Amino acid sequence: MVKAKTAVNSRNSIATNGIERIKTGIIGLDKLVKGGFIKGSTILISGGTGAGKSIFSMQYLWEGLQNGESCVYITLEETAEDLRQDALTFGWDFKEYEKKGKFKFIEKNILEDANFEFFDMDRMKASRVVIDSISLLSLVVEDKSSMRGRLQELVKSLKERDITTILISESVDEKHMSLLGIEEFVVDGVILLRYTSVGAQAGRLLFIRKMRRTKHSENLHPIKIGDKGMQILNV
Ligand SMILES: Nc1ncnc2c1ncn2[C@@H]1O[C@H](COP(=O)(O)OP(=O)(O)OP(=O)(O)O)[C@@H](O)[C@H]1O
Ligand SMILES: [Mg+2]
Repeated sequence: MVKAKTAVNSRNSIATNGIERIKTGIIGLDKLVKGGFIKGSTILISGGTGAGKSIFSMQYLWEGLQNGESCVYITLEETAEDLRQDALTFGWDFKEYEKKGKFKFIEKNILEDANFEFFDMDRMKASRVVIDSISLLSLVVEDKSSMRGRLQELVKSLKERDITTILISESVDEKHMSLLGIEEFVVDGVILLRYTSVGAQAGRLLFIRKMRRTKHSENLHPIKIGDKGMQILNV
């Protein structure tokens, strides 16, 4: 058996056999994905309303900011101010980093312009980006094949910049990871967030559905959203 060669590059990344991974910031998640997300990869976070997709994503960017990275959150639905306020309930003061030019919320109206701009990402040398949500793109493209083309183009542009990206996907039910069933094929990883209820008991679950080049957990993991954000329980 060949022993894996591991090197710690910085406070925020670890390389095993030449694959560099960055910490996700979600408490307990790194252990389930061999240390973190592969640098430059694109991950789909899929779930229904209130599943915790935006919280997961803000926590991911907050982790990057704590380690000196520049980050961008592109919001297609909620206002930046609503997101700032949501984040503050967990003690994440994004405004502080906006002032320093290390962070930017971009409010994007997809109906007016379906193209994604890279100007701010390039100017800031962003290394982490979130698009909340990519599902809205499917409302403005003509058909499935153009959606696939658009997504592939977007993912390629992000990879060329070595940006590790979260694409948020709205799922309407347990069986589907996205509205058109395309997004999950274009990305490197898929994490499902579920809000479940059995009788009077309700709970949240996380499941890693795919993570290329990663021997990942295949279990359903109970999660909690608490004062410090999202946490995987029992790991
Ligand atoms: N401070 C908090 N402490 C505990 N739970 C919270 C807190 N803030 C929000 N939540 C929970 O998180 C949910 C919202 O999470 P989030 O906004 O990430 O969902 P989402 O998946 O992005 O939903 P949508 O698709 O509607 O945007 C709330 O409905 C609530 O259950
Ligand atoms: Mg949301």
